Amino acid sequence: MCGIVGYIGDKDAFPILIKGLHRLEYRGYDSAGVALLNNKGELHIFKTKGKVNNLEKYCSDKDVSGNIGIAHTRWATHGEPSDINAHPHYSQSKDIALIHNGIIENYLSLKQFLKDKGYIFKSETDTEVLVQLIEYVKKEHKLSLYDAVQRALSQVIGAYAIGVIERQNPNVLIAARKGSPLIIGVGEGEYFLGSDASPIIEYTNKVVYVGDEEVVRMEKDREMEIRNLSDSVIVPEITELQMDLSEIEKGGYPHFMLKEIFEQPRALSLCMNGRVHEELKEIKLSGIIDHIDRFRNARRILISACGTSWHAGLIGKYLFEQFCRIPVEVEVASEFRYRNPVIFPNDVMIAISQSGETADTLAAIELAKSKGAFIYGVCNVVGSSIARATDTGTYTHAGPEIGVASTKAFTTQVAVLAMMVFAIGRELGTVKQDEYEKLVTELAFIKNKIEEILALKDSIESMSKVFTYAKNFIYLGRGFNYPVAMEGALKLKEISYIHAEGYPAAEMKHGPIALIDEEMPIVVIAPKFAMYDKILSNVQEVKARNGRIISIVTKGDTQIKALSDFVIEIPETIECLSPLLTIIPLQMLSYYVAVAKGRNVDQPRNLAKSVTVE
Ligand code: G6P
Repeated sequence: MCGIVGYIGDKDAFPILIKGLHRLEYRGYDSAGVALLNNKGELHIFKTKGKVNNLEKYCSDKDVSGNIGIAHTRWATHGEPSDINAHPHYSQSKDIALIHNGIIENYLSLKQFLKDKGYIFKSETDTEVLVQLIEYVKKEHKLSLYDAVQRALSQVIGAYAIGVIERQNPNVLIAARKGSPLIIGVGEGEYFLGSDASPIIEYTNKVVYVGDEEVVRMEKDREMEIRNLSDSVIVPEITELQMDLSEIEKGGYPHFMLKEIFEQPRALSLCMNGRVHEELKEIKLSGIIDHIDRFRNARRILISACGTSWHAGLIGKYLFEQFCRIPVEVEVASEFRYRNPVIFPNDVMIAISQSGETADTLAAIELAKSKGAFIYGVCNVVGSSIARATDTGTYTHAGPEIGVASTKAFTTQVAVLAMMVFAIGRELGTVKQDEYEKLVTELAFIKNKIEEILALKDSIESMSKVFTYAKNFIYLGRGFNYPVAMEGALKLKEISYIHAEGYPAAEMKHGPIALIDEEMPIVVIAPKFAMYDKILSNVQEVKARNGRIISIVTKGDTQIKALSDFVIEIPETIECLSPLLTIIPLQMLSYYVAVAKGRNVDQPRNLAKSVTVE
């Protein structure tokens, strides 16, 4: 979703801002813009609908000088994607420019108030209301920009991360946040602003995570100042980013998504590093060790997440119920937060989020917290809002995930859930020692089995080309692989725009079977486990209706193989860990189908990587 970049210092701001916008492209956007203050005392805004490349072209004959600027990629909420609705927005006098990520919920009443005061609006956005309000408050109360931003924000309901500059104040950059992510990079006498670390990391690894309702004043060669909306002074806490530039570059791969698919063995190693002790046959997670009583006394586990993270959560339910015998409810966060759910103080909520910024998941956490539940986070992005809102948790350590379609974040989420479950199960006595040791060993070495599947790249690629004709796909799985069927279908629709549904295989005859004909590809996830014979019958039902069967089977399979048009073989594993293997060929299938269809794999239309609005 919207991306924010800002710079103040001695360097030329424009190249830093443009590079930063490129780095944030993965978040999803439909227009881009930049505001620059030059040393002639002019404040220029340049903005265009479409990609950052368009903006660069548009700026090629413009004066883009200046050592202070703000820039933005917009994902439309209020008003269509257009040059006018793009950020930055000017205030009425054109003295102030502002970029904004989030939604101002009371923008209509504020707009009416400002209209009554004679303010004229050019765009349909909620953001323009904010910049006008800051100007109004500044003039009305004769305040500095810093004070005006603080005062204006106290009238705002909603979520925001903003960057603000002012023509008469060429040495000051103001930023503030509530709900939407914002990071400040601290350089030598200079500051960088970013929605995440990616526009900052090549200049500095010292960062400050701006807290909710905090307003920051940055001036060249001076310490930053932070105050919150209640006017308390906040001492900036500088932390060091554990990330290097190569992690956010493609490293020779044509797309981030392919890189991230192939990174999964390494991501899982990093995820298990220091946690899964193969030699000791033991799992140690500090979040669990320190809070085991919360799980021991848990009446119930609630899992809340969105998108791919929700699918990981569904696998978590199967894991927790099988190995810990604790009842689990999994629900998409957007439903959970609005249905007045029953939450007990001895519930444990596990919130799963790659970005750690998903607005609905954050709201679900706040709701559960307000009822006294204990909140355990499973996040990828270190220092993210969700990571900070939870009582404790386990980072997935998958490294930055740039492709919009989530891959390595999913497998590491499943791995973290498995680690949690095995560790808790042993503590509760629901997992016996010999079983525990087997599970730990299998988890420790699962990455080698993923390598074997990745080596099937060429055959999966050529098979994928056959299916570019398809308008619909059905994915079938059972047990632990039912959520995998849903995740496989999601991958396909996200990046190839082919409609796909994931179903529990036995449920097919209650509806989807009506769709099957000789055109319809059916992906069947059928490794050799207890339900094999059942799923074999489901495959026969598809075959009888001439569906085209792509099956994911255990190496050496004969029966389902004989019924399939295409077969992908995976190594043997333990059933509860099989999602870590079965999802790999499904990610590859959707990637290669999308590439064959000429889709923009890393930035599919309409999607955002980090959904910071509800
Ligand atoms: C967006 C992304 C998905 C992701 C979902 C939840 O829709 O495109 O890939 O699964 O948000 O995001 P989270 O960061 O909370 O895991």
